[in-house]
Amino acid sequence: MVRSNLLGDRIFYLEEVTSTQDWLRDLVRSYPVEGLVCVAGAQSAGRGRRGRRWASPAGGLYLSFSLGWAGRPAVLGMSLALAVHRWLGYLLDDVVIKWPNDLYCRSAKLGGVLVEGPVEALYLCGIGVNVQGRPAVEDKRVISLADLGMEVSPWEALFGIMDSVNETLALGEEEVYQGYLKGLWGVGEPWRILVGDREELVQVKGVDRNGVLITDKGKFPSAEVLSIAGVSL
Ligand code: BTN
Repeated sequence: MVRSNLLGDRIFYLEEVTSTQDWLRDLVRSYPVEGLVCVAGAQSAGRGRRGRRWASPAGGLYLSFSLGWAGRPAVLGMSLALAVHRWLGYLLDDVVIKWPNDLYCRSAKLGGVLVEGPVEALYLCGIGVNVQGRPAVEDKRVISLADLGMEVSPWEALFGIMDSVNETLALGEEEVYQGYLKGLWGVGEPWRILVGDREELVQVKGVDRNGVLITDKGKFPSAEVLSIAGVSL
């Protein structure tokens, strides 16, 4: 098995922080090195994609790391989603990737990936997984590994996911893309999506190598997914 060994040597643990992304951003500005990992026991202002809040009580995994990435930005998001999907796949057989890079199980959100930057030529890669307990998020179906009967600690999740990221970063773009497509939820199904303020009902055919959603009504680089195969999200 080929591994990059990027993550694991330099881990900063904080009991509580606003957001591991913010903490890492500050560190990277004065120390621009890749492979720096920031983990927090809880976050008071955790962030998700599209400016959403990421509820971050104790018991979850909140991880950010710095990465130099010369490939396509979309492949970075796919690689991280695939890494988390692979690790979750050791525990459960019904975890899926929800486009673009969320992790879902039984129609509820289990984890997510946030890529920000570059800052000093480094991307800030954030991963959140609901490990123990279940963060309350309005209007969203959320689930944790504990809800699914998995007795895993945030530390086990951290080391398992760092290993999986190290393995996934050693893969070629095509292998990442194919792995991502395999894990993707809802290909061939009807989706309701919000594009700007326009709602569309589309039949999804796949995702291209730039992370763009391919549908019977055209291609969408970004959209909010409202439902997949009749399941409201
Ligand atoms: C999403 O699904 O919208 C992405 C969620 C990413 C959450 C993680 S938790 C660690 C890191 N710090 C943050 O504030 N956000 C990311």
